[in-house]
Amino acid sequence: MKPFLIVAIDGGAATGKSSTAHSLAERKHLLNIDTGAHYRALTFSCLAAELSPETSTGLCEFLSKVELEAELRGISAVMSVNGRVLRNAEIRSSEVNQNVSRFAALPELRSALLEYQRGLVEFARRRGFGGLVMEGRDIGSVILPQADIKIFLDADDVTKAERREKEGQQDSVAFRDHLDSRRKAAPLIRADDAVLIDTSNLTLEQVIAQVIELID
Ligand code: CDP
Repeated sequence: MKPFLIVAIDGGAATGKSSTAHSLAERKHLLNIDTGAHYRALTFSCLAAELSPETSTGLCEFLSKVELEAELRGISAVMSVNGRVLRNAEIRSSEVNQNVSRFAALPELRSALLEYQRGLVEFARRRGFGGLVMEGRDIGSVILPQADIKIFLDADDVTKAERREKEGQQDSVAFRDHLDSRRKAAPLIRADDAVLIDTSNLTLEQVIAQVIELID
C-alpha cells in the first residue's frame, strides 16, 4: 500500500499555488486544501460583523463562537463558517482583498484556524484519499511541519500583477506579500527544507512536472 502523502505548498499571492495544488491533487488522488480561502472566509465574516483588524474589541468573543466545519466538494475540502460555505464572489471581493492580510496578521485569528487546518489530515484519511496537498503561507513552517514534500513557489512582481489582472481581480498583490512577509505571527517564509520553484517563466505543466518528479 502506498504511504499517506502530505504535501505543503507555500508562497506569495499569484505565484500559482492554487492551480498547482489542484492539479497535483487530481493526479495523485490527494485532498486539496486552499487555506487562503479560510482566511478570506473569516475576513468576510468579521467584516460582516463590523469588526476591524485594527482593534481586538469583539474579535475574541466573535472567534470563540464561530463554528468551522469541513465539507467535501469534488476533491477539495471547503470550510463552512457557522453552517455556510461562502461563495467565491464573497471571499474574493476587493474589500476582502484589501483586508485579508490585516486580519491574517492577528494571532487570535490564526489560532482559531490552526486546529481546524491540522484536523484536515484526519479528514483526508477518513475519506480515503491517498494524502493531501495544503497550500498557503505557513503550511510547511507552522501548520504541517511534518509534511513529506514542501514546495515554496515564487514569481516576480510584474508576473504576479499580470496574472491577477487576467483573472479580472482588483488586488494589490505586492502589498499583501509585503504585509504577509513582515508580520510577527507565522509570516510568509520558506521553510528550511522547502524546495524553491520560481514560476515566472514556467507554464503550469512545467511546475507540476517538477513537483511530481520530487514526489516520485
Ligand atoms: O490567492 P492568493 O495567493 O492571492 O491569496 P490567498 O491564498 O487567497 O490568501 C489570502 C491571504 O490570506 C494572504 O494574503 C494572507 O494574508 C492570508 N493567508 C495566510 O496568512 N496564511 C495562509 N496559510 C494562507 C493565507
